[in-house]
Amino acid sequence: KKVKLAVCGATGMVGRTFLKVLEERNLPIEEIYFFSSARSAGSTITFNGKDYTVEELTETSFDRGIDIALFSAGGSTSEKFSPIAASKGCIVVDNSSAWRMDPTVPLVVPEVNSHDIAWNKGIIANPNCSTIQAVVALKPLHEKYKIKRIVYTTFQAVSGAGMKGYSDLEDGLKGEAPKKFPHPIANNVLPHIDVFLDNGYTKEEEKMIKETRKIMGDDSLKITATTVRVPVFNGHSESINVEFEKPYDLEELKEVLRNAPGVIVQDDPKNNVYPLPIYASGKDETFVGRIRRDDSVESGVNLWVVADNIRKGAATNAVQIAQELIKMWNK
Ligand code: A2P
Repeated sequence: KKVKLAVCGATGMVGRTFLKVLEERNLPIEEIYFFSSARSAGSTITFNGKDYTVEELTETSFDRGIDIALFSAGGSTSEKFSPIAASKGCIVVDNSSAWRMDPTVPLVVPEVNSHDIAWNKGIIANPNCSTIQAVVALKPLHEKYKIKRIVYTTFQAVSGAGMKGYSDLEDGLKGEAPKKFPHPIANNVLPHIDVFLDNGYTKEEEKMIKETRKIMGDDSLKITATTVRVPVFNGHSESINVEFEKPYDLEELKEVLRNAPGVIVQDDPKNNVYPLPIYASGKDETFVGRIRRDDSVESGVNLWVVADNIRKGAATNAVQIAQELIKMWNK
C-alpha cells in the first residue's frame, strides 16, 4: 500500500527535517501535502525534486483520505487539529508535548517500544528530544541489569527551541539581545528549559522523568533531572548516571550497548574519542561514550549520550513510527 502523507508545520525547524528524512528513507508515498499557519501558506516547498505549495492548516485539511500526518506545529495547534485529523481516519504522529502523557495515546521510540504503536486510537506521540536519545541508550541496559535510579543532566542545543531559539544564538554571537530566551544564550548556559513548575523543576525536567517511565513501561523507576540550554546550534548532549539492581561487568555492558539498535558506541578516551554534538549533528543514531563505573554506589555507571535532537530527537523518530505503521498495514 502506498500512503497519503501530510506534514503539518512543514516550514518549521523540525518540519524541514521531516522532508529530508522522508526523502532519504524513500517511503511509499502516493500523495504528500504540506501545511503551515496562514503566515507561511502560499510558500513553495521542494520535495523529491517536485515543487509543492504550502497550504494553511484548517479544519477541512484532512478531508481527502490522508493516512498519516506528521505534526510539528506546536502544542496548541496539535491539541486543536490532531483530533480532527484522527476523526477523519488519519493517524497523527505528533511531535508536540500535547498528547504525550495521555493514557490513551502511545508514546513511542521504535527501538524501545514499537509494540505500543498497535494500540493507538488515531494519535501517536513522539517523545521529548532529550528523552528519546536517553531511552535508546538505557532500554537495553534496563533489560539486562534492571535500572533502579537515573540522574539526568542535559546540555541542550538551541535548535530544540525552534527557529526563534536558533536565531537567538546567531544574533547573540553578533551582540544582539535575545528574543526567545529570557537571558543571552551566547557565551552563557541557561539552567532553564520550558517553564518552571511549583516544585522548582522545569517542565522539560518533568517531561524527561515522566516520559522515560511511560516509554520504558516501568513506573517504579526513580529519576531526577537538570536540563540546561547551552550555546550549541544543534545536537543534545547528556550526562546520565544510572544505578542498577544487578551487578554488571563493564566490558559486557559496553558490548550490550554496541549491539543495541540505534546506538553507536564512541568510547576511546585515550585517543580523545567520545560523542560530540558537532559530529552527531546530521546523523540518525544515538552516540554513547565516557562509559565508566560509578564507584560511589554498589552497581552504577556514568554515560555521555549525544544525538541530533532535530533528527532522532524529533523528525527521524516520527518518520520511523510512520514506517512501522506502513509495515503493519502491509503485513
Ligand atoms: P509558519 O511558518 O506558518 O509559522 P518552529 O518550531 O521551528 O518555530 O516551527 C513551527 C511550525 O509550526 C511552522 O511550520 C509554523 O508555520 C507551524 N505553525 C505554527 N502555528 C501554526 C498553526 N496555528 N497552524 C498550522 N501551523 C502552525
